[in-house]
Amino acid sequence: MGETYVYAIATSPRRGGNTETLLDKVIDGISEVGLKVLKEHLSHKEINPCLGCNRCGSTGQCIQKDGMQEVYPHLLSASGIILAAPIFSMHICAQAKMVIDRCQRFWSVKYVMKKPVVEDEQLRTSRRGLFISVCGRDRPETFDCVRPTIAYFYHILEIKDWRELTISGVDDKGEVLKHPDELKKAYETGKDIAREIGGTL
Ligand SMILES: Cc1cc2nc3c(=O)[nH]c(=O)nc-3n(C[C@H](O)[C@H](O)[C@H](O)COP(=O)(O)O)c2cc1C
Repeated sequence: MGETYVYAIATSPRRGGNTETLLDKVIDGISEVGLKVLKEHLSHKEINPCLGCNRCGSTGQCIQKDGMQEVYPHLLSASGIILAAPIFSMHICAQAKMVIDRCQRFWSVKYVMKKPVVEDEQLRTSRRGLFISVCGRDRPETFDCVRPTIAYFYHILEIKDWRELTISGVDDKGEVLKHPDELKKAYETGKDIAREIGGTL
């Protein structure tokens, strides 16, 4: 196993918005326990949609040479993967969905090539996931639309142990700051995940 760290992806096009604020609280908790976090904001990357070409079915690789090529290694080697994505039109925002679609190469490795996606068995069995989301309407059932996709994402990455942090009724930028209990929960969730992964403090 290489270096132990958590890979955290912020996907909302609104920088410093509600999902990113929650993500930062989780990161504070993880850091408090002494675990390294690599935070990525997708607005810094050019990532294209999956082309559906199925070339990954024979190689396990994606032919598109875009920003996703820098994301892939972390999806394979991080001990924790956090995806922060707001609800847009009753699903995760397109930026997050593109990342998941581009994980088709891992699906190919698992189901076509019938190989483990994460080769290191210790890493494979100890990885943790966290999905962070908010939606504007006060309807918690909105997240029901999203869960199968997130479960699929973590399944493809061979992460059995994933949890979610979701808040409904949070719309304007900064509105999440009116929910101190949820911010505290985010911080504590970060600490819990870091301890499970094996933080030093
Ligand atoms: C294009 C778009 C579509 C949206 N669709 C929904 C929706 O279907 N349901 C909902 O409850 N909120 C919806 N929202 C509201 C966002 O989920 C809400 O503003 C959220 O706080 C954004 O998170 P962020 O600050 O991390 O970007 C939508 C917002 C945008 C910009």
